Amino acid sequence: MLRKFWSGTLKNLISSKSFHTSGSASAGHLFTHRDTPENNDATPFEFTAENVKRAKDIVSRYPVGHEAGACIPVLDLAQRQNDNWLPISAMNYVAEFLNMPKMRVYEVATFYTMFNRNPVGKYHVQLCTCTPCLLGGTGSDVILEAIEKNLGIKPGETSTDKLFTLSEVECLGACVNAPMMQINDDYYEDLTPETTEKILEACKRGERIEPGPQAVDRFSCEPAGGLTSLSSKPTGPGFGCRPDL
Ligand code: FES
Repeated sequence: MLRKFWSGTLKNLISSKSFHTSGSASAGHLFTHRDTPENNDATPFEFTAENVKRAKDIVSRYPVGHEAGACIPVLDLAQRQNDNWLPISAMNYVAEFLNMPKMRVYEVATFYTMFNRNPVGKYHVQLCTCTPCLLGGTGSDVILEAIEKNLGIKPGETSTDKLFTLSEVECLGACVNAPMMQINDDYYEDLTPETTEKILEACKRGERIEPGPQAVDRFSCEPAGGLTSLSSKPTGPGFGCRPDL
């Protein structure tokens, strides 16, 4: 009975939403590499002296013989040095730096969507369009529409002034504050079309709106209407389940 109720409720909620197929349409683009004039084996890349130091420091945190474990943070460092994207030459450089097969590095870089394998705009707007973000608050479909209207681009595109790239992404782990988007390293949550527009306009002016929940009065991911449980002061150790202490 309960199952029937939920499946009916979910169906009603979902049927009132529109769906996008841009994610799957660009799936091939996610995994394959084709040489381009700006992204090929010969694209210049090497760490700056400062980043060589940083990368060595990262590697030193891993046991000898397991340097490959540093692949993700070292790739991240390479991406940050290179305007937030990783040409194939940077992956090759990291493979050599960590003494691991190039293919292993490609596997990591193609698996995690945090790695951009093509140039992105100064602001990489990643909108979560997973189910909780689609159903939460105003819904990610409405936010997507607001972004597309404000920036004049669709998911997978970069604005002509190279300021914004828009991507649709899977769950970014902030479902409680749905709908949400990530711009570079910042999470913007509890979005409405109005707050979304305000954030994008600030980016255009080179300003930064404080990240976190936007339209709802909460500090983090606590219940928007106030605490519903665990609302009394914690009694601390020595009480509660161990009254003898
Ligand atoms: S579903 Fe959007 S953050 Fe989890």
